[in-house]
Amino acid sequence: MSCRIVVLISGSGSNLQALIDQLDAPAEIVGVIANRPQVLGLQRATTAGIANECLDHRDFISREAFDQALVERIDSYQPDLVVLAGFMRILTPELVRHYHGRMLNIHPSLLPKYKGLHTHKRALEAGDAEHGATIHFVTEELDGGPLIVQGRLDVRADDSADALAARVQQIEHRLYPLVVDWFARGRLCLTPQGAQLDGELIASGGLRMEDHSQPSEA
Ligand code: GAR
Repeated sequence: MSCRIVVLISGSGSNLQALIDQLDAPAEIVGVIANRPQVLGLQRATTAGIANECLDHRDFISREAFDQALVERIDSYQPDLVVLAGFMRILTPELVRHYHGRMLNIHPSLLPKYKGLHTHKRALEAGDAEHGATIHFVTEELDGGPLIVQGRLDVRADDSADALAARVQQIEHRLYPLVVDWFARGRLCLTPQGAQLDGELIASGGLRMEDHSQPSEA
């Protein structure tokens, strides 16, 4: 049976595009929801023939009211998995609990470093030698939750935040489809002890992928 996926976006949707381009059976993106109108990601969904809609958070009086409406819209697609792909909203605990074990997020830093915004600038300012992206199960802790995989790259002496962001995104576009495929095939799940791949608990730092290589144990 195909794994039904809903993708939540706020903007350009380049990670959504990577999923559209690279995902194969047994995964199917059945819906895309954006919290901002007319974003490029919605056009990408339309071009790919995927049902999509905007639920504008500014139309709601509170975070709780928006999230309740969002759950209704997501559940109308009857998803097995909800993928946050640049969805720039803090989620209520109720929403997160509702999708426990079936919601993934991608974050542009080597978590637990640099939760929140401006991750590339913060990595540069800290003089980090390494930077990257992390995919994790979503729990109530912002940008927390058991790590699945981290894609790493070396920071170059002349890197700007934009240059770094572009290279991190290349990693994201390779990693996210891979991880979603694992979930769709039943290879990846969340257990009380943490994320598990092929029956093996993933170490707390996540699987590690160096630039241009396949994931391996940390
Ligand atoms: C991605 O780089 C993703 O890691 C980041 O937003 C970007 C969305 O790009 N997500 C976060 O910062 C979440 N905290 P996209 O719309 O082109 O996929």
